[in-house]
Amino acid sequence: MNNTEVVHLHDDTSSVVITLQGAGLPVMTHWGRTLGNVDQAALHGLVDVVSWSNPNNAPDAPVPLALLPDAGAGYVGRPGLRGHRGGEHFAPSLAVTSFSGEDGAIFRYVASDEAAELTVTGTLELLASGMVRLRHVIRNDGTTPYALEGLETALPVPSHATELLDFTGRWSRERAPQRQTFNHGSWVRENRRGRTGHDATIGLLAGTPGFSFRDGEVWALHVAWSGNHVTYAENLVDGSPVLGGGELLLPGEITLAPGEQYESPWIYAAYSPAGIDGIGAAFHRQLRERELRPRPVVLNTWEAVYFDHDLARLTSLADTAAAIGVERFVLDDGWFRHRRDDSAGLGDWYVDETVWPDGLTPLIKHVRALGMEFGLWFEPEMINTDSDLYRAHPDWVLGPRPGVLPPPSRNQQVLNIAHPEAYAYILDRVSSVLSDNDIAFVKWDHNRDLIGSRVHDQTAAYYRLLDELRLRHPHVEIESCSSGGGRIDLGVLSRTDRVWTSDCNDALERQLIQRWTGVFLPPELMGAHVGPTKSHTTGRVHDLSFRVATAVFGHFGIEWDINSATDEERAGLQAAIEYYKDVRSLVQTGVTVHSDHPDAAAWVHGIVAADQSEALFGYVQLATSVQNKPRRVRLPGLDPARTYRLSFDAPAGRPKQIQRLPADWKSVELPGSVLSEAGIQLPVLEPEQALLLRLK
Ligand code: GLA
Repeated sequence: MNNTEVVHLHDDTSSVVITLQGAGLPVMTHWGRTLGNVDQAALHGLVDVVSWSNPNNAPDAPVPLALLPDAGAGYVGRPGLRGHRGGEHFAPSLAVTSFSGEDGAIFRYVASDEAAELTVTGTLELLASGMVRLRHVIRNDGTTPYALEGLETALPVPSHATELLDFTGRWSRERAPQRQTFNHGSWVRENRRGRTGHDATIGLLAGTPGFSFRDGEVWALHVAWSGNHVTYAENLVDGSPVLGGGELLLPGEITLAPGEQYESPWIYAAYSPAGIDGIGAAFHRQLRERELRPRPVVLNTWEAVYFDHDLARLTSLADTAAAIGVERFVLDDGWFRHRRDDSAGLGDWYVDETVWPDGLTPLIKHVRALGMEFGLWFEPEMINTDSDLYRAHPDWVLGPRPGVLPPPSRNQQVLNIAHPEAYAYILDRVSSVLSDNDIAFVKWDHNRDLIGSRVHDQTAAYYRLLDELRLRHPHVEIESCSSGGGRIDLGVLSRTDRVWTSDCNDALERQLIQRWTGVFLPPELMGAHVGPTKSHTTGRVHDLSFRVATAVFGHFGIEWDINSATDEERAGLQAAIEYYKDVRSLVQTGVTVHSDHPDAAAWVHGIVAADQSEALFGYVQLATSVQNKPRRVRLPGLDPARTYRLSFDAPAGRPKQIQRLPADWKSVELPGSVLSEAGIQLPVLEPEQALLLRLK
């Protein structure tokens, strides 16, 4: 084949082969299992054999799927570039003018259409984590505006990826999986909430039939953007199955002036030859490129005191927290002017003089003297109409047009931080509070959807704001919260240090929320708190042992009025905190694994040290099993050649209903091969109970 260039990026697990034929846009000829060190002749041979068949009743030369699906070249699926110049040039004839990417880790190309006066630049990187990330930039080279409606990137998956897995959810029930056959047509997950969204699919996975945590080939895609976005799977009758995505642009949101350009968010993709756990491992490696000190045990005041900000009550809570081993005390919503409930005050980021006559200093000093860090809640992108800020600047509300307020949600409106003065005000307020007080941690919330307003500029301003604050306050850690887990994505996570996984502290719900969030996020980035005995969001009552066995698989904390807890509960919490401190470096650096447990009413998951020297597993009974004798369970990820001592741990007290736990349990020693392959028999657990298994 003439005039064909092939670029091969690969590591030990996966390969990406990119083909350029003539001036056509680059095509991903293979994304999947590594091809190893194949030579150029073999790569050209691959291109030959995949290009030679052409269907009936189709263009005379095959139309491949380009990284930017190319309508101008005849691609009839979802186009990568959507836009027009006064009704023209919606399907430009983009021709590659240059590219770089000898066998290595980065591939770049430039393509333009002189008549349409557009230039597109594409970048694809094979990262050290094993993930691939891609983005496109489009520039308007003309003298008239170009209206951009979408710039989306697509990756082909092989036709043996016949099943799809993606996620939905709601407030307090984030990231519920849904599975389906990858049929012909498009499965398009659009998000128009102006934030990442509780229901957004955090990842879109395609895999071989029945792919599970440990088995099957899996391909995954994630859009790293905290505003409107689209993630899709498409399967054409005359093309390859595709995963793609990008920012979802609202009509008129992006009009490129002459010389102006638009940069799409990064699209992250991962391939695993061995189940969903391989996808998780790649995401975790990627997110662990940050440096995090050992995760401090948190006490968050929200479910403890809500808006009852009383210095005596809070200092006493801090005393109890410090006494049981808490290391970070986080004051949640309610500290700023007019914020006596959730109807007023957002925007007035001054410490409320009526509740805090001497400022936050007395509390912070007290907390610091107890040896704990202090953290504070903000919701900078929001405004109550009952606030001094709104009274002074009603025009700073983000809405469809000046003077028109979107429907209120949680009694609040959105502050237009793309407005330069509003941005400067918020930057100054947050920054001043951080400078004037000894604050180590910010919980940054965002509690409503955006309605009828521009989202792109708001999202870009949010990122700018975070970047600027991090520059000014490099030692302050930031948590991304959005009514719980409504803003979790790799865009925000490149600027923040953990997420509030969900407002639901019910351990049973958390088992599922953390199971699926944890495929994408390593455990130390997922805030996981032991809540009150009776859950505030569901009304369920759980043993402390179950709540603890759930929260240790995250960034452990407490969100409970522990002054109202019993002595026994406080002692249990203290022991749990000690236990967490003992396992936290394992939690923070280990490899997350899941056993493909055959009984949906129970499950087994764990974290194995990177050097396989130790592991922590959770065996969780979610509901009653029909199975009378629990299934034998394999503990994956262990070193087959090493011998492990297995102990059953229940730091906060034994689950009340364990039956028939072997008396000599603590003395079991077995090779990794036996534990991982033959498996072990676990005891009967009543529903909503869990055991921790420690292997050393
Ligand atoms: C959101 C958060 C909660 C809490 C409240 C305060 O719902 O998710 O954790 O901070 O706001 O109003």
